[in-house]
Amino acid sequence: MTAGTSDIEKAAGVLRAGGLVAFPTETVYGLGADAGNSAAVARVFQAKGRPPSHPLIVHLADPEHLGEWAEDVPATARLLAERFWPGPLTLVLRRGRRVSLAATGGLETVGVRVPSHPVALALLSAFGGGVAAPSANRFGSVSPTTADHVRAELGDAVDFVLDGGPCEVGVESTIVDATGDTPSILRPGGVTREDLEAVLGFPLAVPATSSVRVPGQHPSHYAPRARVVLVEPEKVVAEAELAQELGHRVGVLVPPAFAGVPVKAHAVVAVPGSMAAYARRLYGFLRELDQRGCDLVVASVPEERGLGLAIANRLRRAAGPRPSD
Ligand code: TXA
Ligand code: MG
Repeated sequence: MTAGTSDIEKAAGVLRAGGLVAFPTETVYGLGADAGNSAAVARVFQAKGRPPSHPLIVHLADPEHLGEWAEDVPATARLLAERFWPGPLTLVLRRGRRVSLAATGGLETVGVRVPSHPVALALLSAFGGGVAAPSANRFGSVSPTTADHVRAELGDAVDFVLDGGPCEVGVESTIVDATGDTPSILRPGGVTREDLEAVLGFPLAVPATSSVRVPGQHPSHYAPRARVVLVEPEKVVAEAELAQELGHRVGVLVPPAFAGVPVKAHAVVAVPGSMAAYARRLYGFLRELDQRGCDLVVASVPEERGLGLAIANRLRRAAGPRPSD
């Protein structure tokens, strides 16, 4: 059920009172708190089990408010904001006076975005201020793309959950560092590199998956409980069957080129051929494989173009070394 006007009012009241509201955005569900209230922001870190040095994104209702939340906004950042907001783009800028240092993890920069989901925009307008919100999952795990995912993962740690149906984009926003003269991509996401470059007119640097450019990012992130193993597309079926024979409960994400090939594994998911559809369903697939009791997921990365870049990034991070390794 999609949230109605009284739900929005109630949620805005919870934010004003320093509480936590989970809300839908076009990318993933966020866990929101008043970005100007340090105590409320501290509760977000607690609920997620996230280290306090790991900065949050501030969500605004209107690009016009940017000047209150960020300072010295360069012309390139204004151009990107104009072209891609509301939408799945986060701009890292110099912190403005209204942002609590708790929200930025002590940094003098701040990530800001205007989301496009109508429920998110209604909440932000009703609340009237900035809402600091990470994805509404436990630290390191897969982001939620439905209200049920949020409830299953955070339960009572959230004061109110706004339900806006399944998220349209399905992977998080693209984060662009716009503090310097030359913008760079810190995290690929819902706005493609190609679309950004078309607007800017020059190529953008994208970090290698292994580099830790965004403070607090760890190699294993966006990860299901099951271990994730990535192989070449043509080796997915053989690798999955071998692991299953060796006694694993294998979940397999079958690449589109091999759709219909029978696979002897515990759980078999056919990956959509369209990158938009794959991005929308990626986290749901990973959650489903966990729920079905898989201990190993075998997959391959798609071509790193368009939304394929964000999908490949999330799969690589999910396959990264775990803290216990
Ligand atoms: O689509 C999204 O971006 C979702 C929705 C809810 O808006 N939010 C999201 O937030 O993915 P979170 O906290 O899960 O991921 C935000 C990332 C983190 O890796 C954080 O380190 C980075 O943004 N970040 C935030 N502020 C930053 C800053 N000032 N400098 C560098 N990285 C920053
Ligand atoms: Mg997250």
